[in-house]
Amino acid sequence: MSPTRTPRLEIRDIVRSYEGRPVVDHVSLSIQPGHVTCLLGPSGCGKSTTLRIIAGVEMQDSGTIHVDGQLICDTVFRVPPERRHIGLMFQDFALFPHMSVGENVAFGLKGPGLEKRARAVQLLERVGLGKYIDDFPHRLSGGEQQRVALARALAPRPRIMLMDEPFSGLDNRLRDGIRDDTLALLKEEGTSVLLVTHEPEEAMRMADEIALMREGRIVQRGAPYNIYNAPADKAAVAFFSDINVLRGKVRGALTDTPFGHFLAPGVPDGAEVEIVFRPQHVHIDFDRGGKGPNPTAIAGTPARGIVERARFMGSESLVEFRMDHDQEMLKATVPNVFLPKPGTPLWLTVRRDRCFVFPV
Ligand SMILES: Nc1ncnc2c1ncn2[C@@H]1O[C@H](COP(=O)(O)OP(=O)(O)OP(=O)(O)O)[C@@H](O)[C@H]1O
Ligand SMILES: [Mg+2]
Repeated sequence: MSPTRTPRLEIRDIVRSYEGRPVVDHVSLSIQPGHVTCLLGPSGCGKSTTLRIIAGVEMQDSGTIHVDGQLICDTVFRVPPERRHIGLMFQDFALFPHMSVGENVAFGLKGPGLEKRARAVQLLERVGLGKYIDDFPHRLSGGEQQRVALARALAPRPRIMLMDEPFSGLDNRLRDGIRDDTLALLKEEGTSVLLVTHEPEEAMRMADEIALMREGRIVQRGAPYNIYNAPADKAAVAFFSDINVLRGKVRGALTDTPFGHFLAPGVPDGAEVEIVFRPQHVHIDFDRGGKGPNPTAIAGTPARGIVERARFMGSESLVEFRMDHDQEMLKATVPNVFLPKPGTPLWLTVRRDRCFVFPV
């Protein structure tokens, strides 16, 4: 067994209310040294407020914050923001316009000028901007300014970096490259990162662990693979992709649907469940004289639908069906090009191991 390591950052039971409404509602999180955790959730769920509390620019109503096992903040004791060894990077990062790029990077450093300059040179070279050290920030592009801001935040060697949607101001083409470079640099420096985003792709790309937040609470934590493949509830599935939903009533731990039986272990008789699955897990078969493929244990029973619309999306095609059994719509995606004509009858199956069954 590996020894338990002291987390770099640990927050416990943080609560913050505005006008009697809890905006951060008993949030607990821990981040190991050198790890990246993404706080992922919809707009207004309390992500930035959580970050501001950790940074120390806002006070929690209750709960504690520890860095490397040392208390830095509870409701009585409070280490000021500048002594927390925490770096910040926000979307609207602003470089100081009257200082050179090098002076910007060295701004938070203490000690002799030569040492400060050496650290600025080291970081600027690392982000590919060494030659701009004596220029003023306005000469740089948005992406370059972003990298200077990263170098500035990393210069004092923070133990933790808090990043609030730091890439959302960049255009798509730049974003992927800067994201990957930023991640590589943070890993090299051994900094633990708490990154706020409302984009699931960004979280999947950056995170060692995702903490899914909704209405002030962490609803699920885990590696990206686990969150995607073992989501806690319907909303957690829907956060990462389009979904299809079937409803059914449970009898003897099974629910019967037009796609066959689904297991509903532990759900009492008569209770309703929702069966949730992603469009990419719907399998499509051709109609053979009014019949589909034979039922199997893994794929269940095929159900017939009529193509309503099919669209090519670039790397995949999206086909929308109106189902025979209830006239409801169901979506399927297929890799590459598959564009059946509207009105075509096709048979759909859903693999059991790709479905999530949730009590309603
Ligand atoms: N100073 C404040 N006074 C009153 N309400 C506030 C204050 N700051 C934040 N809120 C409210 O708290 C909620 C959470 O805000 P927060 O900025 O933490 O959300 P967020 O998850 O970062 O959202 P977004 O993705 O849009 O940035 C919002 O409903 C917001 O209106
Ligand atoms: Mg925010």
